[in-house]
Amino acid sequence: MAMILRPTRAEIRLSAVRNNLKKLAKTAAPARLLFVVKANAYGHGAAELARLAEREKLAWGFGVSSVEEGLALREAGVKSPVLVLGSLYPFESFVAAINADLMVTIASLDAARQVSEAARSLSKKAVCHMKLETGMGRIGARRPSLLKIYDELSASGNVTVAGMYTHLSSADSDPEYTARQLGYFSETAADLKARGARGLTLHAAASCGLLNFPESRWDMVRSGIAAYGLAEGFEPALAWKTKIVFLKNVREGAFISYNKSFRADRPLKIATIPVGYADGYIRRFSNKADVLIGGKRCRVLGNVTMDMTMADVTAVKDAAVGSEAVLLGRQGGEEVTAQELADLAGTITYEIVTQISARVPRVYAE
Ligand SMILES: Cc1ncc(COP(=O)(O)O)c(C=O)c1O
Repeated sequence: MAMILRPTRAEIRLSAVRNNLKKLAKTAAPARLLFVVKANAYGHGAAELARLAEREKLAWGFGVSSVEEGLALREAGVKSPVLVLGSLYPFESFVAAINADLMVTIASLDAARQVSEAARSLSKKAVCHMKLETGMGRIGARRPSLLKIYDELSASGNVTVAGMYTHLSSADSDPEYTARQLGYFSETAADLKARGARGLTLHAAASCGLLNFPESRWDMVRSGIAAYGLAEGFEPALAWKTKIVFLKNVREGAFISYNKSFRADRPLKIATIPVGYADGYIRRFSNKADVLIGGKRCRVLGNVTMDMTMADVTAVKDAAVGSEAVLLGRQGGEEVTAQELADLAGTITYEIVTQISARVPRVYAE
């Protein structure tokens, strides 16, 4: 492994992920749990967390966004079912997915034909989940097309039609719309049954659906955000930390960072921490976010730069080069939450954690 000297890191507490997955599985039961580990497990490290979940039987399988993400899990030794949630393109994607025993999402008749052809060319079986469009407006077929897809797939000797699913767009904001999505899903499931479909795994809920709409659980739930502890009642798993690398006292009137984006209105003690927007500590945090140093909230001063950020440590008497700075997580009695950072940046917690870039080493602790 490459030498890591820079003190910036994302610490992932495995016990939090374990507890969250157990809670989700218990809530979902008898429905199965598909642990969504796309986007490197929302920045938490897909290989590490999928291996943990597989070893301890915390999830039935894993959801990823692309064939590449599925292949990375296989390369990490993960043997459990993996469902590619994205729409596959080009044709070679189907070949690679089938070769690696990845289950694929089929959302169009064209994709149904391609997966069947890819499986035939490999003399293997493709395992497919059909995707129904119920109101998300992203990928999926409306009912008449989905029934045609079913007919096409079930006529192919090289395909197992394993499931049908949809995605709820507004489970956190619009119960009435969610009910309509679920109603359309339920009617389509009945139509498939009338056509002779048996044993399909039906799934609609992500974390919010699972927690707020019991009727959305069906046979499986696909949970991501709650597993990482970024939903109410769950334990946040990720803490983002660094250390002070430079410290200085400045006079009243001193400017800090690009474009003189902060001016000291009194003498201040200022720490520089080695984290910037190239690490995913986004520029929108400039002059707004707090970092925790010496158990105190210290305001970011001036513009966040690519690799470094300044913070006001005037109130931290024993701040020194080497003192820990927490960007996200707890220190002493204080906490900076992903929701707080998301609110400052006008975004959602998903974006805060997935933006923590690859150059931030992930370290794992119980
Ligand atoms: C198709 C699909 N299922 C499940 C999930 C997991 O959602 P959540 O992280 O809200 O649990 C996602 C995430 O965006 C998704 O796109």
